[in-house]
Amino acid sequence: MSSVQPCGVSDDDRRPPVNDLLEIAQRGLALKPKRLPSWLFYDERGSALFERICEQPEYYLTRCEIALMDEHAESIADTLGSDVRLVEYGSGNALKTRMLLQHLHEPVAYVPVEISPEPLRQSVVRLAREFPPLPVQPLCADFSRPLRLPIPPRAPRRTVVYFPGSTIGNFENREAAALLRKMRNEMGDAGGILIGVDLKKDHALIEAAYNDRAGVTAEFTLNMLARLNREIGSNFELSAFAHRAHYNRMAGRIETHIVSRREQQVKLGRLNVAFREDEAMLVEYSCKYSLADFAALAARAGLAVLRTWTDPAQMFSLQYLVRASTVAR
Ligand code: AVJ
Repeated sequence: MSSVQPCGVSDDDRRPPVNDLLEIAQRGLALKPKRLPSWLFYDERGSALFERICEQPEYYLTRCEIALMDEHAESIADTLGSDVRLVEYGSGNALKTRMLLQHLHEPVAYVPVEISPEPLRQSVVRLAREFPPLPVQPLCADFSRPLRLPIPPRAPRRTVVYFPGSTIGNFENREAAALLRKMRNEMGDAGGILIGVDLKKDHALIEAAYNDRAGVTAEFTLNMLARLNREIGSNFELSAFAHRAHYNRMAGRIETHIVSRREQQVKLGRLNVAFREDEAMLVEYSCKYSLADFAALAARAGLAVLRTWTDPAQMFSLQYLVRASTVAR
């Protein structure tokens, strides 16, 4: 990668030094049970595969969220009010973001926060072309850590954190509460959070979404091993591992594992890692919430749900959260 920063991108220098993938993988595989962090999915190929997942007939999440935005963008924009600074956590949701920006009343700035410079740069170029008058202030940073937002071009009435895609589902309850609390700090007293949350429903529908017939999700999952092979020179044999996504009813979440099809050894740097036949390593949670579950989570973070938008079948929800203290009770 070039050392030249794309022009106009603030680089948050409090980011940790370049992640040492080898060390991260070695540490995860030393855990019992083994586990690897979900963000490892999203190299260039993984991001492209995720886009394809969103087009699979079983993966209802993206379609439902776009339909909600399509139907309610105006009411959402009215709820957020005028002169909003929109801070998006992650910048991979170009379509939904554009739908929202089209309806916002006199937005002050759009601030995409994204750890990978290339997708960040692309989203900026695209938006600048489509919304020439809107100041775009990209921030290259890890959104799970405290952010230093760029100085806005004029005073916003409120800062709204936009967190679409049910990405909150990747975090366990405690971490999800911690992340919401972090957003609460960043948005300030008058701020809000517009968040996409996948809802509990028929388990078969949920499981199908993570086990599409075309096998794209399986490819996405196993790409994590391919990525490690490419980037740290490990020797995972992809055909000797399988994707498994199972809905855990008690926990209300999809648990995605990579399962070893046989007893085998894998080399990661100088470390040899042994796998038993059928041994599973955890790579992702996708938590599902009822509206009441999510309100309780928000409350743990000092937030209140001011409005929700859902489809008649209650497949997916968009929710607008504000500081609990600002809501009359
Ligand atoms: C992008 C985290 C919301 O959990 O549904 C899709 C990722 N993983 N299929 C999700 C994903 C497998 C997705 N999120």
